[in-house]
Amino acid sequence: MRIFLDTANIDEIRQAARLGVVSGVTTNPSLVAKEKKADMKAVIQEISSIVDGPISAEVLSLEPEAMIREARNVSSWSPNVVVKIPMSAAGLEAISVLSREGIRTNLTLCFSVNQAILGAVAGATYVSSFVGRLDDIGHDGMQLVAEIVEIFDKYKDRLKTQVIAASIRHPLHVTAAAKAGAHIATIPYSVLMQMVKHPLTDIGISRFADDWRRISKA
Ligand code: E4P
Repeated sequence: MRIFLDTANIDEIRQAARLGVVSGVTTNPSLVAKEKKADMKAVIQEISSIVDGPISAEVLSLEPEAMIREARNVSSWSPNVVVKIPMSAAGLEAISVLSREGIRTNLTLCFSVNQAILGAVAGATYVSSFVGRLDDIGHDGMQLVAEIVEIFDKYKDRLKTQVIAASIRHPLHVTAAAKAGAHIATIPYSVLMQMVKHPLTDIGISRFADDWRRISKA
């Protein structure tokens, strides 16, 4: 499973990139707005200069023709850009046109198996299955990821769409996404750093240092 970072925060992206485990970044309008930056293009281009991998940038248009126009423009910002298209009839229409033009897309706000199937058949490069937001309303978000993976796997000769486990809230979600066979988990920086940590690792490091200090002073 590959790890993408789910943020538009440049400092977080720089720090996470140094770990050598991040192979892409996903953003959305809320994440960019959180950084108080209104120039989406500048943000996406800066991220692309840090991480050499797929960088998802979302369109805001809602009508198919406007979506397609906006997506073509967004995809010209950097060769790394993957255009995020929200699930809707207009979104599917846009994805099918864009995929024929070779523009990579990420179907976002996917909350059902049927939405994922439609996205894949339309030619989406990725579908983002939102785990945390489903959990929030009492559904099993990771079960949906597992079902999408299972179905896509049956048709892997025809459907090349990859499954992104998105809306990840804690490290257990990441483990579960890997077990479910998600191709990618896109995770907030805080969750990535939680994954690094274990109290026994910290205790072990300080014990090694103490023991070495004792013998080297003897
Ligand atoms: C996916 O690409 C989205 O940006 C993200 O995972 C949404 O997560 P949230 O439910 O924490 O907003």
